[in-house]
Amino acid sequence: MSRRGVLVAGGAGYIGSHTTVELIEAGYEVIVVDNFSNSDASSLEGVAKITGVKPIFVEADCCDKEAMRKVFEEYDFDSVIHFAAFKAVGESVAEPLKYYRNNLLSFVNILELMVEYGRHNVVFSSSATVYGDADVLPVTELTPRKPATSPYGNTKQMSEDILRDMTTATETLNGIALRYFNPIGAHPSAQIGELPRGVPNNLVPYITQTAAGIRECLSIFGGDYPTPDGSCLRDYIDVVDLAKAHVVAINRMVEGRSKSRYEVFNIGTGSPVSVFELVRGFEQANNLKLNYKVAARRAGDVTAVWADTTLANEELGWRAERELCDTLRSAWEWEKNVRRIK
Ligand code: NAD
Ligand code: WQD
Repeated sequence: MSRRGVLVAGGAGYIGSHTTVELIEAGYEVIVVDNFSNSDASSLEGVAKITGVKPIFVEADCCDKEAMRKVFEEYDFDSVIHFAAFKAVGESVAEPLKYYRNNLLSFVNILELMVEYGRHNVVFSSSATVYGDADVLPVTELTPRKPATSPYGNTKQMSEDILRDMTTATETLNGIALRYFNPIGAHPSAQIGELPRGVPNNLVPYITQTAAGIRECLSIFGGDYPTPDGSCLRDYIDVVDLAKAHVVAINRMVEGRSKSRYEVFNIGTGSPVSVFELVRGFEQANNLKLNYKVAARRAGDVTAVWADTTLANEELGWRAERELCDTLRSAWEWEKNVRRIK
């Protein structure tokens, strides 16, 4: 099997497209599989513009095992990164089976095929959501996971457990779960970025769409939390830094440097940032004023969560590098590019 080949499931999406760029730039040959359920081909065109390389692309649903079997039959790769999942927390509460089916079946199919075809390394997109409302901050990888508060969060916990169990049971399989904190920003080229469908759930796309005049006013959900300025604290990780964490995770497994067959790493900056600070940072980075108001708390939000990144720093040799102001500038540059704003 080619150690340089990586199957990127969900590679046309936000994090997948940035990771595809970093993999190509690191010399990997990427095979993207996506069903465009939450993306389109423009991200892959962006990847080609940035890297000069058009990744191999197969339009397929990872839940369709026979379609995925063809990918395993046809292409030479030893590693897989599994991004292919639905990610809207609120929707998962309303439509749990949609999430259990897509997020779990896609992963089970991929793992079954990896074992059947003797492919060795898999990175799973996990999330800080697995920690829930943690008792002690920052959270380390040993912080106990709290019971999931949404079907989405449950799929992340269950997928982690599936990967742990499969690597225990299968000597040939190595897995790394990366627990992303809050990914934001875009590639500095402004060729790829986050493009949510409909009204954004997440803070930064809501901010950029408000700045672009698509949304009238940002609602800051809660100004009365027990935090220094009353708004929630999160760990906002630049998407390019996050993408690079996938490359080091793949390198680690390909080069046989894993300490155990299943490893978990927090991928964040290690610094808490409040919603007010983020809004002010966006205004300063881009020299503009944002229309915002303080509104009621959003159901399900935790007051604060940020990462202890010591393990990723020491074991992966990875750390977040991009300054928050550069990340927030890239988010706006991307939005302007998409909306054709000068
Ligand atoms: P995204 O929706 O932009 O990307 C996911 C991609 O997977 C999309 O291109 C979508 O079309 C594709 N996809 C979904 N189901 C598929 C299927 N069954 N078969 C083939 N393709 C399928 O989301 P993202 O922000 O890039 O997130 C990527 C991964 O990271 C997801 O697993 C998500 O849960 C996880 N994650 C995201 C965040 C975040 O805030 N963005 C945080 C933590 C974890
Ligand atoms: C960030 C902060 C909001 C929108 C979610 C998922 C999590 C992970 C990352 C996938 C919070 C506030 C937001 C707005 C606001 N995804 N906010 N006004 O909720 O930390 O995490 O995305 O795994 O699982 O839950 O991210 O960007 O939605 O919110 O004030 O219009 O911004 O209250 O404090 P969150 P977010």
